[in-house]
Parts: sequence; structure tokens; C-alpha cells
Amino acid sequence: MQHLKQPFIIKTFDVGPMQNLVYVISDTKTNYAAIIDPAWDLKEVYSYISKNNLKLKNILLTHSHNDHVNAIDEILLKFDLSIYLNHKEKIFWNKPYDNFEINYGGDIIKLGSTEIKSIHTPGHTPGSTCYQIGNNLIAGDTLFVFGCGRCDLHGGDPEEMFMTLKNLKSSLDEKTIILPGHDYSVKRSSTMNEQKSGNPFFHFDSLNKFVEYRMSLHDKIRNTPYDFIKKNGSH
Ligand SMILES: [Fe+2]
Repeated sequence: MQHLKQPFIIKTFDVGPMQNLVYVISDTKTNYAAIIDPAWDLKEVYSYISKNNLKLKNILLTHSHNDHVNAIDEILLKFDLSIYLNHKEKIFWNKPYDNFEINYGGDIIKLGSTEIKSIHTPGHTPGSTCYQIGNNLIAGDTLFVFGCGRCDLHGGDPEEMFMTLKNLKSSLDEKTIILPGHDYSVKRSSTMNEQKSGNPFFHFDSLNKFVEYRMSLHDKIRNTPYDFIKKNGSH
């Protein structure tokens, strides 16, 4: 019997002063690769790409905050790439790149024989997007391990974040591996199952209480690294 080769590889890089995580997805059949949120110093990414003979094709953006995009101009000098982002984020960001590939949520992005699904997850920014590859979710600043993205910056909306998290909770398989946009936790990745029980932002049924927790309470009572919090019913 033929041995099944893993169809894709996801490699994680720690970059910059804000614990950002950059991911490179590569399709093992074609060596086509995509980089998620190119930012800060990408030296290690470039050497990984050349060592593994990857053909970098796409930039996938989870959102447009500076700490997720500040190496785009540099990487575009080295590679000819399309920039995938959500239509609402394009308007929000208002950058005049001519190589955008716009997604609307639910789109399938092909990387050789690997399929990447975009999921529109507003809340942190209007066009925030998670990318699903097999049972992995590249979550940007929507979902952190035992945390979630802030909603008090320009374009943030805690009510949208409540709905986004509710949708992720009900639609994603429990075995989904969460790969966040920042390494803010005691661990760098987690499963949906673990997040449902230990991420306090998944513990709310009440929109108002969620909004209060996200917008004022949380930052007063919790520090990084975020750890498991047991649901106690008091939210
Ligand atoms: Fe952000």
C-alpha cells in the first residue's frame, strides 16, 4: 500500500518585539508556499524557504495591523506575490497595492493541491480573517491561546467578536489546532477542545457580560502569559 504523504507543512516563526507568530504553509506536492502575516525580521523565513526549495506564491493576511504587515514591502522586493485579504479589511486598511486577491469569507484559496479556507471573523478589525488548513486554524488576533484579540482599537467591535467566537465554537471540530497571531500564552498552540473549556472568552452566554469583560475587566485582572481558566459560572 502506498504511504500517504502529509499534503502540507505549517512552520511557525517567532518574530519581532510583540511576540508575533508568522506561519509558512507549504504544499508538499508542488512546494508552493504561502506566508501568513509577514512582519518584522524575516531572515529565518527566507532561509527556510531557500533551504526547502519552496516557491513562495502568496501572502495571506489575517488583518492589517502594523505588527502583522510591516515586512510586506520588503518581501515584495524579493518575491512576486499576491496579497490575500478580506474585502472589509481592504477598505479599512486603504493601502494601494495592485496585487490584492480579495476574499469574502468561505473562499477556498488553492496552494498547489492544498486548500485553504478563509473564514471572516470580525471583532478585532472589520475584516479579520482566520485561515483553515486541514484541522488547523491560523487565527490571527481573533483567537489567542486562552485569550482573544482586543476590541478597543480603531475598527474593533466587541459585539462582533462575541458573534465570531460563538460561530467558531459551534462550527469548528474540537480537534482543530489553534495557531494564534501572537505567542501570549503558556503554550504556543492549543486545540479547540481545550479552548472551549479553558479560554475565558468562550465562557460567556451573555453578550453584555462578554462586552464588559473584553472592554474593561479582562485587562485589569489578567496578565500574559495567559493560562487555562476554569469556567466557574460567575461570568
Ligand atoms: Fe492586531
